[in-house]
Amino acid sequence: MSRRRIMHMITPSDSVSPFDVNMAVDAGYEVIVPHCGVGESSIADFVQDSIFSRPPKSASTTGMFIGGGDVNRASEMLEIAKRAMVPPFEVSVLADPNGAFTTSAALVAVIERCLTETASETLNGCNLKIFGGGPVGLSTAVLAKERGASVRLIRLTERANNVALSEFATRYGVEIDSCRAVEPSERIAEAADAQVIVTTAKAGIQVLGQEALDGASGLLIAADVNAVPPTGIEGVEVMHNADDVVCKWGSFKSIGALGIGRVKYKTQLEMLKSMLSSEDSLVLGLLDAYAEADRHA
Ligand SMILES: NC(=O)c1ccc[n+]([C@@H]2O[C@H](COP(=O)([O-])OP(=O)(O)OC[C@H]3O[C@@H](n4cnc5c(N)ncnc54)[C@H](OP(=O)(O)O)[C@@H]3O)[C@@H](O)[C@H]2O)c1
Repeated sequence: MSRRRIMHMITPSDSVSPFDVNMAVDAGYEVIVPHCGVGESSIADFVQDSIFSRPPKSASTTGMFIGGGDVNRASEMLEIAKRAMVPPFEVSVLADPNGAFTTSAALVAVIERCLTETASETLNGCNLKIFGGGPVGLSTAVLAKERGASVRLIRLTERANNVALSEFATRYGVEIDSCRAVEPSERIAEAADAQVIVTTAKAGIQVLGQEALDGASGLLIAADVNAVPPTGIEGVEVMHNADDVVCKWGSFKSIGALGIGRVKYKTQLEMLKSMLSSEDSLVLGLLDAYAEADRHA
């Protein structure tokens, strides 16, 4: 008997992301079921409710996707889901809250590829400044730190605190340096000694202008994930993919949102496809996303 491929899309918030629904269907899932308001206390029941209705070793026909907008909650739910399985009764699970795991994975992989190809450098020891501490910024900080970069996460708003950052960094066993830069002058000062600048602010907000770039005389790469005008860094356009941008002291390589988005799309699609082709359970999180993105950068 051939079974239809079901994707349970689980989120603690009140709606699932249409982007993620489309991706699951394009990967080959035939039935998509959204489950909203499901968090840490109920995900184990969800997993166990789904595994026993299908034969052992049928992870390829039942998938789960953990979304929402909180990287710590999604990571915790992924761990709970993994522990809830009763081998050989298992499902495959992918966590990608706000698209942050696949987006940050693509961002870090594209930057590392660009560093290698254009400057014969790697992220190891590189001075990398991330502006914006939302889900994408936090995930980028952890991945860049894992790759050996010297990372500082710069918070952009007065209301920002580092509770989520410390929990997330602890989860991955890293320490992330952080500071706040709300005023343009503070951001210019933070950018000055960066070799790589990454902006991960809310869509449609310009974080750094020409003055910041003109003052960053050691800058090799500037990358921005925001596709909504204006872009996060003046002169970094959405279509840029290691393009040269000239400033006062010379030039740097520019990577825009669609250059990153192309790799993010491929990363998410291939992770979903791998779940459909594996009889054994795959439990995929942030580090798995990086491994996949590295193949497509
Ligand atoms: N290219 C792609 O494939 C792709 C995929 C997914 C998402 N994205 C983009 O990634 C970016 C980050 O998304 P996200 O989900 O991590 O977070 P987000 O909720 O969009 O916000 C990110 C951060 O922006 C800062 N921010 C918020 N309001 C601000 C304001 N008025 N002025 C200055 N900064 C402000 C805050 O930084 P602090 O907390 O530090 O104050 C916030 O944490 C967005 O632009 C999103 O569109 C791109």
